[in-house]
Amino acid sequence: MFLKNFLWGAATSSHQVEGNNIHNDWWAWEKEGRLKYLSGEATRHYELFDDDFQLAKQFNHNAHRFSIEWSRIEPKENSYDENGIHHYRQVIASLHKYALKPIVTLHHFTNPRWFAEAGGWLNPRAPFWFVRYVEKIVTALGDKVEFWLTLNEPMVLAYHGYLVGLWPPGERSVKKTWTVVHNLVQAHRLAFRKIYEIYQKNHWSRPQVGLAKEFVVFKVCPLYPTLGSHLGVFLRHRLFNLYFLERVRFFLDFIGVNYYQREFTSNQKLLGYGRLGGRCNKVHGHIEHLNAVGWDSYPLGLGEVLDWLKKYHLPIMITENGTCEDDDQLCFEFIRDHIGEVQNAMKRGINVIGYLYWSLLDNFEWHHGFGPRFGLVAVDYKTFKRTPRQSAYRLAEMIASALEP
Ligand code: BGC
Repeated sequence: MFLKNFLWGAATSSHQVEGNNIHNDWWAWEKEGRLKYLSGEATRHYELFDDDFQLAKQFNHNAHRFSIEWSRIEPKENSYDENGIHHYRQVIASLHKYALKPIVTLHHFTNPRWFAEAGGWLNPRAPFWFVRYVEKIVTALGDKVEFWLTLNEPMVLAYHGYLVGLWPPGERSVKKTWTVVHNLVQAHRLAFRKIYEIYQKNHWSRPQVGLAKEFVVFKVCPLYPTLGSHLGVFLRHRLFNLYFLERVRFFLDFIGVNYYQREFTSNQKLLGYGRLGGRCNKVHGHIEHLNAVGWDSYPLGLGEVLDWLKKYHLPIMITENGTCEDDDQLCFEFIRDHIGEVQNAMKRGINVIGYLYWSLLDNFEWHHGFGPRFGLVAVDYKTFKRTPRQSAYRLAEMIASALEP
């Protein structure tokens, strides 16, 4: 069922694993005391990447998704750090050494401080600044990379940073959120074109450019199935899942799917929910089990997402899917059941080209700090020792049997 060239692997992002990303807006945000946690040395992946990729190889992976830290490439405006660029060339060389296909994200939530101080994604020049960096880094790495992801979860970035103010820059404004979403749309489109331009100029073979888009399966609250709750589900789906995608659909070679969870939605006024409804997973307690960050496991939802995307006639890569559980057996069941849904979707004729688990390593989980453990590999944050979990080996067995002739 899974072809030989199906991409199997895991994902990480720079700020969550590298450590010491001192030139970005998250670092500043953490230092200002806006969070209870500091990312600090994270997992020291910046030094230990080769050991980590060796583990991925042992798990039968043939691909790996990571992100470039823009603030390491351009720590000051229009001034590039050749050491930063060299580092990522080494990262990519190490991936190739272990026969792991690099899937490179150009932006995974963090921004250089100079960019943030100049207004960040609210500044109308933001897409152009982004593309200037894209040009620099893609020119430097493109000969060794086929798969690019321009942005990670643009709606999550806009939502957390500009609507609810939980992430930098801590804004709470619908108008600003809207501006940011449109600047991100433009950034994606410009980056898509720029990557093609660079590949053509250098006579490199054709790249595959996508974005990692987040999808949540919204369901009407069974305890409050009012018309308003239905409207909430409809609006959330249109805005959160489809709005961005519709605007970039002709600028994609494939769709990256980040899928984690189902969200029950109700418009119960008592809970303060408005037209868009609110998430009532916890409030009503109608889900038996929630993971360490309060998400339930709903594998069928991944199949539903893949069905929605069929109409775009584009290959689909699962760029993130994962959970954080104290009980590793539950992690394995999560993985097994979601891959099962991928397989079912493929039987329905949907073209899925890869499955990347989030995450290879335990890591800095944004405003949750180091508590939730998403890794196939456990990290001891005192010694930085890596210990693979059983789920990593069990996934490895699944991959091996999927690849059998
Ligand atoms: C993000 C990751 C994050 C993961 C788990 C995704 O939304 O891309 O950075 O760690 O979810 O919360």
